[in-house]
Amino acid sequence: MFGGPARQLDELSAELASANVIAGRHGSKPVRQVLSVASEIYPIVKTGGLADVVGALPAQLMQHGVRMRTLIPGYRAIRKHLTRAHQLHRYDRLLGVPAAIYEIELEGLDLLVLDAPLLFDRAGGPYQDEHGLPFADNWLRFAAFSRAAADIGQGLLEDWSPDAVHLHDWQAALTAAYLHFEPKPAPPCIMTIHNMAFQGNFDSSFFGILGLPQHAYTMEGVEYHGSVSYLKAGLQLSDAITTVSPTYAHEVTSFEFGMGLEGVINARKDHIHGIVNGIDEVVWDPESDPLITRTFSRRKLAARRYNRRTLEHAFGLVPSSRLIVSVVSRLTWQKGADVIADCADDIVAMGANLVVLGQGSKEIERAFEAAALRHPGRIGVNTQFSEDIAHQVHAGADATLLPSRFEPCGLTQQYALRYGCAPIVNRTGGLTDTVIDANDAAISHGAGTGFAFNGLSRSNMLQAIRRAQNLHRQPNQWSMIIRNAMKTDCSWTRSAARYAEFYETLISQNQEQGQRAVG
Ligand code: ADP
Ligand code: GLC
Repeated sequence: MFGGPARQLDELSAELASANVIAGRHGSKPVRQVLSVASEIYPIVKTGGLADVVGALPAQLMQHGVRMRTLIPGYRAIRKHLTRAHQLHRYDRLLGVPAAIYEIELEGLDLLVLDAPLLFDRAGGPYQDEHGLPFADNWLRFAAFSRAAADIGQGLLEDWSPDAVHLHDWQAALTAAYLHFEPKPAPPCIMTIHNMAFQGNFDSSFFGILGLPQHAYTMEGVEYHGSVSYLKAGLQLSDAITTVSPTYAHEVTSFEFGMGLEGVINARKDHIHGIVNGIDEVVWDPESDPLITRTFSRRKLAARRYNRRTLEHAFGLVPSSRLIVSVVSRLTWQKGADVIADCADDIVAMGANLVVLGQGSKEIERAFEAAALRHPGRIGVNTQFSEDIAHQVHAGADATLLPSRFEPCGLTQQYALRYGCAPIVNRTGGLTDTVIDANDAAISHGAGTGFAFNGLSRSNMLQAIRRAQNLHRQPNQWSMIIRNAMKTDCSWTRSAARYAEFYETLISQNQEQGQRAVG
């Protein structure tokens, strides 16, 4: 179901599974085996964009001669499929708990699953219980997960071992420490930061149970201001670091965005690269999307109005020609959702309507619900997490609001662009890299895909919405912006090629170092 006609992918996949070498345009090159290590993967477990990226990468990389297998925790939702999975390894004890590694194909994904029922077979989400409280043993859950990833990296499985290991966020980051401190040859290890705000910092009293040597607890290792930091360990001990947009790669070197880890980042400045996320253009395709009322394209934009009517109906808006501003987001401080809620009355007073699909802080959810009660027919709020409704919102709204205080990449604005819904964004991180402001100069050159403002404040955001509204009242200009938006290249093409090149360079370097060590 990802990135490209299924038949073609099946053929490629069979070719990669059976061959060690593929013939490309530039002669033949070896198939590279990469282990991706992540705590979420779309469409199986998702709390945000991390899952979308981890789910899309394997199919995208296949086209570049990379076979990617993904290690994920055996959460309850995954565990129920394990009866038909093949067990590859059984641990008597993995950091003190019984565990096993299975392989299984689910939703077209080639998965390795760490089954450790005491750690992962429970109700709630991947990181929190049913009441939204973080699990108290997250330190152990993701240390065991990382330990297993490192073991696989160092040849635990009989029939498969990776040429490189790709770690996503703090939940996988301790893998770099296990690989580094284990006196065995290790494949190169790439650490991707999807969000610097989540670091996996835990009490140092847990260190003794992590199974790392005592000398790992230093500033050069996992120690961080008297505690243990998984993300810091990953940043410090991986062979290379990537983050999910060039602007964020630059921002994290600063005090404002480094979240306390800017020193570590700066010390490794030569090893950090920004590779912007793409989106899955098969799942998010307005020309074939089964989740929307009417499919449409740049050339058949008129059909879009049927989706607008569906959206108005679903969110209880009185049908109108007003600008519909949407929000599809976690309702958190990062996303600036508090400021949107604060401005809800102003947005209505300006003459626009507001549609909110979001979950998060209870306080922000309640603020939006109260705003909807104050403005029946003008503001509609849904506090579910619904993939299906997200498609309908992008297909029916005119603009989408992303006033994030920081945004490593952001996928929402890219989905919106593809569906002709103009993003209104704060100029930060990936929002800067993916949206072209429709200012006078851009418009006079026929450019512009959305609206950007400099720094989150009520007045900056409201002014940008007003600019959008003014252009929305000029149908020719508006349709030019929408068509430009829909033309934006949000594909994985370039970024997948960059990841593949990146693996190749690190694998070759690692092999050369290995040969030097032997020689
Ligand atoms: P982040 O990962 O920081 O939340 P991204 O923009 O990278 O930000 O990804 C957010 C993802 O979560 C998108 O796929 C978006 O559609 C989805 N999403 C956020 N909130 C909701 C919701 N309430 N219902 C459905 N999808 C949502
Ligand atoms: C994080 C970031 C978001 C990014 C996503 C996928 O959740 O907050 O900006 O798009 O990861 O990389």
